[in-house]
Amino acid sequence: MINLLKKRLTIASSLLCVAFTFLFVDGSAMGGNQTKLAAVNLRTEYKHNPIGLGMANPRLSWEMQDSERGSMQQAYQIRCAATAAELKNKADLLWNTDWVESDQSNQLAYAGQKLASGERVYWQVRIRNNRGKESAWSEPVFFELGLLSHADWKAQWIEPKLDEDVSKSTPSPYLRRTFQAPKPISKATAFVTCHGLYELSMNGSKVSDDLFTPGWTSYQERLQYQAYDVTGLLAKGENAIGVVLGDGWYRGFLVWQGNKNTYGENVALLFQLQIEYADGTSEMICSDENWKAGTGPILKSDIYNGETYDARLEQTGWNTAGFDDREWNGVETKDYGYDNLVASDGVPVQVIQRIQPIEKIITPKGELVFDFGQNLVGWVHFKLKGNKGDKVVLNHAEVLDQEGNFYTANLRVAKAEDEYIFKGDGVESYAPRFTFHGFRYVKISDYPGEVTVDDLEACVVHSAMTETGDFVCSDTLVNRLQKNIQWGLRGNFLDVPTDCPQRDERLGWTGDAQVFAPTACFNVDAASFYTKWMQDFPVDQKENGSVPWVVPNVVKDGGGTGWSDGFGATAWADASVIIPWTVYRAYGDTGILERQYASMKGWEEYMIRESGDNYVFSAGFHFGDWLAFAEYYSYYYNAPDYGYAGANTDKELIATAYFYHTTGLMQKTAEILGKKEDAARYAAILPKIKEAFNREFVTETGRLTSGTQTAYVLALCFKLLPENLVPVVAKRLADDVNHFGHLTTGFVGTPLLCQALSDYGYPDVAYKLLFNKRYPSWLYPVTKGATTIWERWDCIKPDGSFQDVGMNSFNHYAYGAVGNWLYQTVAGLQEDPAVAGYKKFVVKPVPTEQLQFAKANYQSIYGEIRSGWERKEDAFVQTVEVPANTSAKIYLLANDATSVSENGKPISNRKDIAIAGRDGDYLVVEVGSGTYSFQIQNSN
Ligand code: BGC
Repeated sequence: MINLLKKRLTIASSLLCVAFTFLFVDGSAMGGNQTKLAAVNLRTEYKHNPIGLGMANPRLSWEMQDSERGSMQQAYQIRCAATAAELKNKADLLWNTDWVESDQSNQLAYAGQKLASGERVYWQVRIRNNRGKESAWSEPVFFELGLLSHADWKAQWIEPKLDEDVSKSTPSPYLRRTFQAPKPISKATAFVTCHGLYELSMNGSKVSDDLFTPGWTSYQERLQYQAYDVTGLLAKGENAIGVVLGDGWYRGFLVWQGNKNTYGENVALLFQLQIEYADGTSEMICSDENWKAGTGPILKSDIYNGETYDARLEQTGWNTAGFDDREWNGVETKDYGYDNLVASDGVPVQVIQRIQPIEKIITPKGELVFDFGQNLVGWVHFKLKGNKGDKVVLNHAEVLDQEGNFYTANLRVAKAEDEYIFKGDGVESYAPRFTFHGFRYVKISDYPGEVTVDDLEACVVHSAMTETGDFVCSDTLVNRLQKNIQWGLRGNFLDVPTDCPQRDERLGWTGDAQVFAPTACFNVDAASFYTKWMQDFPVDQKENGSVPWVVPNVVKDGGGTGWSDGFGATAWADASVIIPWTVYRAYGDTGILERQYASMKGWEEYMIRESGDNYVFSAGFHFGDWLAFAEYYSYYYNAPDYGYAGANTDKELIATAYFYHTTGLMQKTAEILGKKEDAARYAAILPKIKEAFNREFVTETGRLTSGTQTAYVLALCFKLLPENLVPVVAKRLADDVNHFGHLTTGFVGTPLLCQALSDYGYPDVAYKLLFNKRYPSWLYPVTKGATTIWERWDCIKPDGSFQDVGMNSFNHYAYGAVGNWLYQTVAGLQEDPAVAGYKKFVVKPVPTEQLQFAKANYQSIYGEIRSGWERKEDAFVQTVEVPANTSAKIYLLANDATSVSENGKPISNRKDIAIAGRDGDYLVVEVGSGTYSFQIQNSN
């Protein structure tokens, strides 16, 4: 393949690099827009102007901007003050670092004057580059602390006094109270959480766009509260607070057996409003016995089943001051304490986009169905007219069946049904709030009027993470695969990483999350999202260190399976170590390693104990290579494999391979954190596990006891083999793929399959898998019209029928883990193995003749990185963008330096490009920041 690149290329033309600029959407390939030296994109704990932070020393980050090539930060100065004015006047500074000689621009912990709960800090930074040039002070930004101590909570937990049958979904409670603000208000902050879900409004307006608050955590020990700046919603005089509560994860239906009331039977509110008056005095309005409770139009709200809303029951003005609540009930105060309260570390869930239907369909069964053209997660917002008492029912489905009928069997018992009853008041606009659906199609029934595509829009709901990366190449199907990976991510990052968003499951499956995490970190800024979720691991971990299948762990006792207690499955439980490590690698964040260390170590020590003296990890139940290619398909493919038992990889082989891999990460983590004893202990154990793996699962001639692709992949990628067997096993892997003509891997092998092939000498075989359109493959679902990643390779079988309804999700991201390889290998954008957070990175594409070009962009914590290559008629062009304050090692597909020009000039003897030597087919160069366009004209 690489030989092909070496074909004679003629005519150097500086025009080539101009032509190549189209690769970058903003046309910045020719050196980028000239940017002045500046510190931009200031963040505190990954967020812009966050309030309610849960730590006293949050970490500050910025990006260095400088269009000069090779620009590094030499020094920085941070200053902080309590107000923007003080910052400007340099008066009463809370912290002034003076100039610090350092290139650190990320995650610098605030180390100024001690801060108290609720304190706001304005900060700015200026930087000096390696040429001695100083930037101006950055624009000021701020952060604000939350309630750092439980003693800061004065509010009381309240529960509505309502007659409820909690064995089923009951009407959503509405809570309200009014209060007098005697003086002009200068600042007001609301701290709020609940049992269930809440929607908070003040004087008739919602306080934020956040949804599904307070989020899902292991509530028994960690219940998040949110902080909102509500200054603009309140005024001197009479004010009203209104809260609607939903069942949510707390007491709604959850887990797959009609299970309800997982955390408790009653919803409850905890609310504390801290008001500062302009005259310097302050006051607190809290949840207490003075609140009123009633019900309203939301008759049912359930995550799996949907929402029923009777608009006739709306109580106009219920959350405003003048409302007459004499008929409402009271509330009961409860002593639930504050011990489990924690600030919100995650990313709020919001409506992120809105999509119009692309088609109105009458199905063969005569049902009215709208197609949104994209399998998505959220709900439908409609604007329709009806007479009082008319209704409209919306059902949600991911697919139509072979006949074109609406298909919901794969949702299992999740009803995914929203029902609205009209009040008869002109055009009525409605969207649910305490439920979400995974769907592409919506069926509309029971509505007497006409519905058009203009009456509906789908609201796409997920955690509002910044999208940070994209991959594009010259193959439209692969591009669609990339889009499907991104949509799978959107659909399954709803406060926790879920397995699927549509059926009666939607749980934080650890294995799925683990395999997908590296891909996620390319596509979105996932640091805060994972930081929040990982903190529930130690809560739900057993005392012996074993980690549950799902976090938050709601699958008690293995979900009543009888064959497992729901803990300790290899590759699932390893999420406890692999995800913190992945976040550390992507964002250079040692904080997550520190915070998770006890949990990580718990799992590691569990494996060590359980594997005993022979270092084979076999204890407990394991899912193994979940959903790998199975037996009956060999029938579909006809002989020679008819009778093939399926790609069953020995679970002990997988578990021991993961034991080794995780122990390696533990050793590195312990080293980074300065835990020398642990590092030495794990370093000593590693060769023992490796020896055990080879003793038990590898023959001297390089056969594995399971001759499956997954077994080969793990042995190679986790570096378990003796040197001499590496090429043998790599060849067996390639032979196996060639023999079948397709992949046979499940959740465990799939994420690393192409990586193993391309890293160990068979990139052409990896590409064969990528471009395969026959089942089983990544593109097979694409050819079947998939707009997300499927749970199985054949959710729709080649004959058009569906897989088993028991487990047939059309939105499961695990197989989308190949996305990591698209970025890293096809486009070549890789982390430097020795340096985390892309402070240094590697650009090493492995092109294929089947692609004309491939490119990836990634918004790293230092700024935008781009890597792209294109096969031009007379040159092979590689383009790389390196942000300021970073450097890159670039692998050029060039015979030697004389066949390369950059920006029209030779690359030898240049200050901005250092030639580091050859590595296989590549010429390696090292560069500092800047945008580089290399034209390569190999002479043979
Ligand atoms: C889920 C997963 C999960 C698996 C366990 C399924 O029900 O949807 O994706 O990892 O069970 O193997």
